[in-house]
Amino acid sequence: MWTRVFVLITLLKYIYSYKPVILIHGILTGAHSMEIIKARIEEKHPGTVIYNIDSFEGWSSLDNMWYQVQQITETLYNVTEEYPHGIHLLGYSQGALLARTVLQANIDHKVHNFISLSGPQAGQYGTQFLHLYFPGLALETAFELFYSRVGQHISVGNYWNDPYHQKLFLEYSNYLPYINNELPSNKSEDFKNALLKLKKMVLIGGPDDNVITPWQSSQFGFYNSNGTVVNFMNREIYTEDKIGLKTLYDQKRLKIITVPGINHFQWHINVSIVDNYILPYLD
Ligand SMILES: *[C@@H]1O[C@H](CO)[C@@H](O)[C@H](O)[C@H]1NC(C)=O
Ligand SMILES: *[C@@H]1O[C@H](CO)[C@@H](O)[C@H](O)[C@H]1NC(C)=O
Ligand SMILES: *[C@@H]1O[C@H](CO)[C@@H](O)[C@H](O)[C@H]1NC(C)=O
Ligand SMILES: *[C@@H]1O[C@H](CO)[C@@H](O)[C@H](O)[C@H]1NC(C)=O
Repeated sequence: MWTRVFVLITLLKYIYSYKPVILIHGILTGAHSMEIIKARIEEKHPGTVIYNIDSFEGWSSLDNMWYQVQQITETLYNVTEEYPHGIHLLGYSQGALLARTVLQANIDHKVHNFISLSGPQAGQYGTQFLHLYFPGLALETAFELFYSRVGQHISVGNYWNDPYHQKLFLEYSNYLPYINNELPSNKSEDFKNALLKLKKMVLIGGPDDNVITPWQSSQFGFYNSNGTVVNFMNREIYTEDKIGLKTLYDQKRLKIITVPGINHFQWHINVSIVDNYILPYLD
């Protein structure tokens, strides 16, 4: 009798409590930068268990993306083991790209909703961003560093997407062309299927970001070879459903959220962003 009551209570707890949330911070910062989001979730959704990832803080956030993905995967496994009924995942800036890859690299993930908060999902090509980390580099010649074996040791090099040097990008980048299934690999199917497991993919970005360049990269838009920004819906990644974006969209599981007036360094500290665009996806 009591065992049954216990089982029932455990079941009800799973059904009625909020799912745990994993937070992944951005580049050259750390877990502390995600504290406002964490505190707001805890305030509005009491009882939510939150894992605010504190690895790869500061300069180590420039480590190779695959290496970071591999390490963060361990946390994902640990949390999943404890909460097999599902969790949510939110990443900010570079952390949003890392988060997406952690999903793709783990086809057994139990993530329900993935929220990308101003992440360079289609890559990055902009002076303002570049000069935050490499003030001495010029936009036009940065590819010479990034598209090399040495450059691929740096996270930024992994997703530097120079529209005027696509041949070198595809030849040297060992990260972005693969996770976006622009180049085939023996992981291509998994990369797509892992994203198709999501209940929702939420892509938040906006025209006043000023760091993610073009800002549409936060929603898989990017420059074409003559430097014109092409909306994600007109790019092959979507039209050919390379990573499942079209399927997710057709099934109303892809949410595209554009918020004007928000600078890149405001997304994660503006409580109304959390209230309006994040909390609705954390059940
Ligand atoms: C995952 O769990 C194992 C076993 O409890 C532990 O040794 C390890 O440090 C954990 N890793 C992370 C990243 O939490
Ligand atoms: C998949 O590709 C990687 C990298 O090219 C290679 O090391 C690995 O052996 C391949 N695995 C299979 C099962 O073909
Ligand atoms: C650039 O590309 C766009 C889209 O493919 C095209 O409409 C436009 O005419 C091109 N502009 C130039 C200057 O080639
Ligand atoms: C916070 O975000 C809201 C939109 O949700 C915006 O109206 C407001 O201006 C932002 N505040 C700051 C300080 O950026």
